[in-house]
Amino acid sequence: MKEKKSIFFCQNCGYESAKWMGQCPGCHEWNTFVEETVSEKKAGKRTSSASGRGEKDLRPKTLSEIDLTAGHRMETGIGELDRVLGGGIVKGALMLIGGDPGIGKSTLLLQVCRELSDKGVHVLYVSGEESLQQIKLRALRIGTFTDNLKLYCETDLDDIQRVIENDKPELVVIDSIQTMYNEAVSSSPGSVSQVRETTAVLLRMAKTLQVPVFIVGHVTKDGNVAGPRVLEHMVDTVLYFEGDRNQSYRILRAAKNRFGSTNEIGVFEMRSGGLEEVKNPSEYMLDGRPEDASGSVVACSMEGSRPIMIEIQALVSRTNFNFPRRTANGTDFNRVNLLMAVLEKRARINLSQSDAYINITGGVRMSEPAVDLAIILALASSYKDIPVPADTVAFGEVGLSGEIRSVTMAEQRVREAAKLGFGKVILPNACMRSLEKLQGELKIRMYPVRNVREAIDCML
Ligand code: TYD
Ligand code: MG
Repeated sequence: MKEKKSIFFCQNCGYESAKWMGQCPGCHEWNTFVEETVSEKKAGKRTSSASGRGEKDLRPKTLSEIDLTAGHRMETGIGELDRVLGGGIVKGALMLIGGDPGIGKSTLLLQVCRELSDKGVHVLYVSGEESLQQIKLRALRIGTFTDNLKLYCETDLDDIQRVIENDKPELVVIDSIQTMYNEAVSSSPGSVSQVRETTAVLLRMAKTLQVPVFIVGHVTKDGNVAGPRVLEHMVDTVLYFEGDRNQSYRILRAAKNRFGSTNEIGVFEMRSGGLEEVKNPSEYMLDGRPEDASGSVVACSMEGSRPIMIEIQALVSRTNFNFPRRTANGTDFNRVNLLMAVLEKRARINLSQSDAYINITGGVRMSEPAVDLAIILALASSYKDIPVPADTVAFGEVGLSGEIRSVTMAEQRVREAAKLGFGKVILPNACMRSLEKLQGELKIRMYPVRNVREAIDCML
């Protein structure tokens, strides 16, 4: 007979406790503990047919014995996704795609299925969320599909496992993990123990059958559904799909990647026919920028290997309150406060009677220190009500003494700015040594600066 015992799980971070608690010691959220019954039998011992197939090879291997050739990585044909994955899908990888409901996870994965099935890869798309008809309606918007794509609507993991073992697909999509259930676990679908056990089974299946598996996970704040954060340590790759639902572009970011860098981002636009890659995000993000408006400066931020230009906007106005209001949209609020303090102290710009709002347009989040200089210039420009010339790009980290510190990959940033037709770049003096050779080559004019004051004097 199976022993049952009940454990309390934090539905936010998966913290386990024998008794109920008001606040989670792990993530400090309140009222997130829910009682779940788990069977005593541990997951490892379950008679999974995946691990019991054939005779097992019990011999450890040397590195030279491991074969990395043919088909180790499979390119999806969607460049932006391949970049984030580190060059394509790795065999046997378990990949989690998280994001708010309605952001486009199912759409992206269906497009991956389309690209790969076109190339002759057998794909199985398992949906526990939508009916076959609903998926077909979505597929019709995206384009034509070949018969290499098979759809299966099911939430029972045992059935799914059997279908995968019989059908032997070369790629599996599970949409979504919160709808799946494993009979061995008695708690309801979407609960922490259910989500964790289901993922463990999928993980074993991915590794033993060497089939890559995409898992969709919804991120929800309220306690009912276990968030993908519970799974982050189990899977090989965690991708987050973010963006403003009211705007059309979406950014795919890797939060963890065992097979590549986590710095790369992929940019997409949601159109009526599905997601479209945005090959040159800078042009896209700068579209519609006001000319000759004070408080607007273009910054250059590196996202992985790719420089991206973004517009930083600042609005500084006299306050009507005892406490001036400050907000930062798209970047770190504390960092902005610190930069304002630097402006007050080192450039003698008195902001104590002013409200200040910082906004990074396009709804993207940029937290690289290299955007500091642009934030400072935007604030000063709005304060003085003098526009920074529209063809200017700024990058550089600002230190507490008001010094402008060098940043990495200055050359790529300057080249990108020149390529996009910018005429001036204002940058840390310390970066100039590596840039001297560019001066004759590129048409862009460089303005090296040492501190905040120099930067403001040179532009305003
Ligand atoms: P979906 O992939 O269902 O989101 P998720 O799986 O993350 O919950 O995306 C749903 C949204 O995308 C929906 O609001 C409609 C929109 N959409 C388009 O704008 N164009 C399209 O071609 C498709 C398929 C969806
Ligand atoms: Mg969906």
